[in-house]
Amino acid sequence: MHPVVLKHVSKTYQLGSIAVPALIDISLEIRPNCFTVISGASGSGKTSLLNVIGCIDRPDQGQVIVAGHDIASMNEDALSDFRAKTLGFIFQNFNLLPVLTAYENIEYPLLLSNIPAAARKERVRALLDAVGLSDRAQNRPGQLSGGQRQRVAIARALAGSPSLVLADEPTANLDSQTGASIIALMRKMQREHQVAFVFSSHDPQIQAEADDAFTIRDGKISHTATLNNSRTITPNSDPLATQEVNA
Ligand SMILES: Nc1ncnc2c1ncn2[C@@H]1O[C@H](COP(=O)(O)OP(=O)(O)O)[C@@H](O)[C@H]1O
Ligand SMILES: [Mg+2]
Repeated sequence: MHPVVLKHVSKTYQLGSIAVPALIDISLEIRPNCFTVISGASGSGKTSLLNVIGCIDRPDQGQVIVAGHDIASMNEDALSDFRAKTLGFIFQNFNLLPVLTAYENIEYPLLLSNIPAAARKERVRALLDAVGLSDRAQNRPGQLSGGQRQRVAIARALAGSPSLVLADEPTANLDSQTGASIIALMRKMQREHQVAFVFSSHDPQIQAEADDAFTIRDGKISHTATLNNSRTITPNSDPLATQEVNA
């Protein structure tokens, strides 16, 4: 099953009397267990698209199917429940709770679930270790660097064992070296947790890191490249030979 299927999705914002088309007839499929990038310039529609995929916003037209569920069939309560169980989010501004420690931020989504306290503690400790922050468990976000905050956010996004993680420009507020280490960490976590990961970036260079790459321009998905598919490449095949480009 594809974690995300969009069919002819459109979204227009109304600014007073002006209609701003943000997403125009977008159809796409996100493959399971893949690291997928959506790149595009500022204002191209990345956040609008991720908000639709993340069930934060509904499209005006078209169908959105996430983890096999058509989101049009869910009311707001069902949708927020579905979001909490199925999705993990990573943001440009980290969006950590400032009064909670790194440990507590990662634990927070688990408090809403029925996981017993001992298992919860074990899971948070394992995630802190995986993102290299075991020694920072008791620090609050204000006592952490930007890169460390984003590491906490990655751990938090994975805490509830989601089937899909969405990251909207997760490296935009980081220097390029820290940004590269965050991409590498997301990649590692994507593989270890066997989860679909979709992230947006205004940096087209980032496409080389991904399994799948989409480019969005003025609300249209204008280019799709399957850059790598580790699940189907045979040992002797050249990954570049599998490259597909669809207009
Ligand atoms: N709430 C909103 N109201 C009106 N226009 C919006 C709103 N959000 C985004 N837009 C417009 O929609 C387009 C796409 O925006 P966005 O999805 O935020 O792009 P990106 O994330 O790639 O920078 C832009 O023209 C933007 O100005
Ligand atoms: Mg944006």
